[in-house]
Amino acid sequence: MSPLLPTAPYRGTRDFLPAEMSVRQQVFNHLYETVERYGYGRYDGPVLESAEIYEAKSGQEIANQQLYSLTDRGGRRIALRPEMTPSAARMIAHNAGSLQFPVRWYSHVNCHRYERPQRGRTREHWQLNVDIFGSDSPNCEIEIFELIHDLMGSLGADRDMWMLRVGDRAILNSILRDVVRIPHDAHQQTMALIDRWEKTPADELREQAAQFGVDRAMFDLLETTLGAGADILPDLPEEVRETSTLARVMKSEAQDLFVFDPFIVRGLQYYTSTVFEVFDRSPENNRSLFGGGRYNDLAGLFTKQQIPGIGFGMGDVTLHDFLDTHNLLPQPRSEVDVTVIPVDDDLIPASREIARLLRHAGIRTSTTLEPRKLGKELARADRSGARYAVIAGRDEWQRQAVVLRDLHDNAQHEMPLTDLAPHLTRHLTA
Ligand code: HAM
Repeated sequence: MSPLLPTAPYRGTRDFLPAEMSVRQQVFNHLYETVERYGYGRYDGPVLESAEIYEAKSGQEIANQQLYSLTDRGGRRIALRPEMTPSAARMIAHNAGSLQFPVRWYSHVNCHRYERPQRGRTREHWQLNVDIFGSDSPNCEIEIFELIHDLMGSLGADRDMWMLRVGDRAILNSILRDVVRIPHDAHQQTMALIDRWEKTPADELREQAAQFGVDRAMFDLLETTLGAGADILPDLPEEVRETSTLARVMKSEAQDLFVFDPFIVRGLQYYTSTVFEVFDRSPENNRSLFGGGRYNDLAGLFTKQQIPGIGFGMGDVTLHDFLDTHNLLPQPRSEVDVTVIPVDDDLIPASREIARLLRHAGIRTSTTLEPRKLGKELARADRSGARYAVIAGRDEWQRQAVVLRDLHDNAQHEMPLTDLAPHLTRHLTA
């Protein structure tokens, strides 16, 4: 006999049973409702894409270490999408002729990355993507930041539970070039170093910096400059201060929505200016929940037309940990309001008829498939979370009536069949 196969899902992926799906779906529905209130249209796309679209601009980590890639039978190199932004940029470029820019789009898709599974990191996660294409106005930043506040609020999160930290790669470039005076060819590596800053001990950072020509004095100046936060802005050249998108947002009424933080760089290569991350403020889960930024050249992979973009990706794993930490996870909801129980096998068709009547009235109704003792069936109905049981008894059925039992207090009474659906509709929605 061949050995039994394992029942656990592939490492780093998750199965979702109905109770977990119920929690997920309630959380997701809050997100969709909020995003749709801002007028974003939902789109979707294939889970398989040409591997090149990630290799070009997403950065080494995704392209070299995390991509699930394969060669199809026609010899094409394809990949499971590790993120949605390159696909979205491709779709925007493909349809640019018929779209009315700026375009507001959102999607919710599964993404795959070959990562070491750990808290907050899996190999398959669901990512809500919210993006604006075709505008480089700072009003986009303001709208996205406001939307993030509404999303968090829709989940029951207070402002003291999380914070939005925003950086700007254009400002950071100016800090590296004009203030710390780091040689140009070390900028890319310095950015990557800053991205690792909070997770790496200072000694290690210093050593790594020395390897690409950032000496101790430069490193120390970099540390104090970045640590100064918004106080560094007056030291930057006027054109950076005046023209950087984020500097303009900081002068608007939206300045209270976020904290300027030059340590925020983000790993993906395609971001061009604004970059941001939402952090959990709880000491138990002090980590980034989700993030995004502005990418003004990504569509350039697919079209000569200049189509800037800005948005973010919010993963379900980190969000779940946040909601769990702050006790904000909803309770699973039962799938069923009413269970119809025939007292005997020959009343099964009657129970089906009753169920049909209730379903047509929009009531979520299940029936007993393999009738056992009434007491057992009532206990099962109660455990399933149904609020009512409808008992199809022989005598009652002959009178075209049923017994309605409230599973909360076990009170029951006979009711004519014609009254059942209106009665339940009234009580279930009350
Ligand atoms: P990202 O920071 O790579 O950005 O991912 C966004 C979010 O997806 C993360 O903050 C996290 O919530 C979730 N996530 C990413 N990888 C994993 C993983 N291995 N396990 C669990 N969750 C994960 C992007 O993907 C950008 N494309 C987002 C974006 C949209 N930027 C602009 N528009």
